[in-house]
Amino acid sequence: MVLVTGGAGFIGSHTCVQLLEKGYGVVVVDSLVNSHGESLERVMRIAGKKLCFVEADVRDRAVLRDIFAKYEIDSVIHFAGLKAVGESVAKPLEYYSCNIDSTLVLLEEMNAAGVKNFVFSSSATVYSAGNEMPLKENSSTGNCTNPYGWTKFMQEQMLKSLCTADSEMSVVLLRYFNPVGAHQSGLIGEDPQGVPNNLLPYVSQVAVGRLKCLTVHGDDYDTPDGTGVRDYIHVVDLARAHICALDYVSSHKGCEIFNVGTGHGSSVLDVVHSFEKVSGRKIPYKIGPRRAGDLATVYSDVSKAKSVLGFETEYDLEKMCADAWHWQTLNPAGYVG
Ligand code: UFG
Repeated sequence: MVLVTGGAGFIGSHTCVQLLEKGYGVVVVDSLVNSHGESLERVMRIAGKKLCFVEADVRDRAVLRDIFAKYEIDSVIHFAGLKAVGESVAKPLEYYSCNIDSTLVLLEEMNAAGVKNFVFSSSATVYSAGNEMPLKENSSTGNCTNPYGWTKFMQEQMLKSLCTADSEMSVVLLRYFNPVGAHQSGLIGEDPQGVPNNLLPYVSQVAVGRLKCLTVHGDDYDTPDGTGVRDYIHVVDLARAHICALDYVSSHKGCEIFNVGTGHGSSVLDVVHSFEKVSGRKIPYKIGPRRAGDLATVYSDVSKAKSVLGFETEYDLEKMCADAWHWQTLNPAGYVG
């Protein structure tokens, strides 16, 4: 069985669907602080199979110990954590406590239970500014611009150290680029609390009329249209990368890092135009100042994931926007609506 922490969240829920579809037994532990139990009901509906759900914080050692005692867990996928960049600047201790302590407690309890296979939800945010594009797994890391990024950097380091100490450990660090889109059923998708910080959920809330106007954070970057360029990846593709990673950890030892992106950059205006096309709605936008900490262009070298994991993305930006829009129209207020 696979233990999935944070399985009710955006990427976790899409991964749970594919795990169930592939025949894995799934136990989810999620505190629901930033997600809804309803997403797991829908995961089970899509897959036509059941998973086990434990509502708890991953820092709750007793709960983890019970889970490892009760279920035959052979691998862990660790999504749980706080992830809002701006909030992490305002509340650094919450971020360090939540993200670092949860990983420590989880690894200690895994160790006590003799579980050795681990897939970690990391981020392209661990790469330093100043790298050449595309980013490779051996591009330089560190000098993070916010506590959220540092927590990912530190968690990666903890996992690398553990692999050095324990030759039986098998760890994959997946460095996500910009996950967007939704399951094609429209039943599960991204449901941020409050005003979204990220581009795609903001654009889709403008399209559906929940928000009035997008602010483009700067149009004077050294990019083709002056707006920021990112490597957007469909969440269903990203979820599939976890299935590949799980296969990999079950047959290899040590720590391997993989970028998970498409290898292509799209600008803010590319996203706006794509979204307008698939939704048939106008997305009003205004140009604002640059956002602190943003880079002009970030995209991934995907050759390692392809050659080692056999992973390639299928979906393009238009499909990402179409599926995000489908989810948004079926669930205009998210899971609670
Ligand atoms: N943007 C806007 N207006 C908005 C929101 C975003 O113009 O209202 C622009 C940004 O300036 C950037 C692009 O859209 O050029 C993408 O911004 P996002 O906030 O969606 O994504 P980021 O690339 O800034 O950050 C994402 C994740 C982080 C992660 C990082 C890794 O949100 O968690 O990728 O590179 F750390």
